[in-house]
Amino acid sequence: MSRTAPRIIIATAASLLYSLVATSAYADDDPDYAAMVDGDGKDFAFLVCSDCHAMQHVLQKRYSSQGWQSAIKRMTEDFGMAELEPDESRLIIDYLNYNYGTVAGRKQPRAKP
Ligand code: HEC
Repeated sequence: MSRTAPRIIIATAASLLYSLVATSAYADDDPDYAAMVDGDGKDFAFLVCSDCHAMQHVLQKRYSSQGWQSAIKRMTEDFGMAELEPDESRLIIDYLNYNYGTVAGRKQPRAKP
């Protein structure tokens, strides 16, 4: 028993490490992620908002900053999304508003650099 324990620990650590690496590679391969405009908050928005629906479902909207804020509120109150910290929701709102918002008459998402 005691001789096999360290092997099990090593195997567990290795598979944990593998799943961490695999998870970050997964996002890059995901067409939904790849289609998102690059910018601050992109990774976090993808992580949180693609949990229940495709990002395209979100990104096809053109909400104002306030509109994105109330969308997040709807997700939390109506659909059981985990509550975000104020700085977390700010990061997502800013990303969405800047790249997929109504700012300055922008109708299309910014082109990828
Ligand atoms: C817990 C599950 C869940 C999470 C997490 C989630 N949503 Fe949703 N979302 C839903 C459901 C359910 C609908 C309504 C059904 C539909 O439109 O497909 C929806 C619809 C939407 C819509 C379209 C309808 C509307 O209210 O405007 C937007 C925009 C949206 N979500 C934005 C977001 C954003 C932004 C995030 C990340 C901050 C997010 N969602 C995370 C469940 C979720």
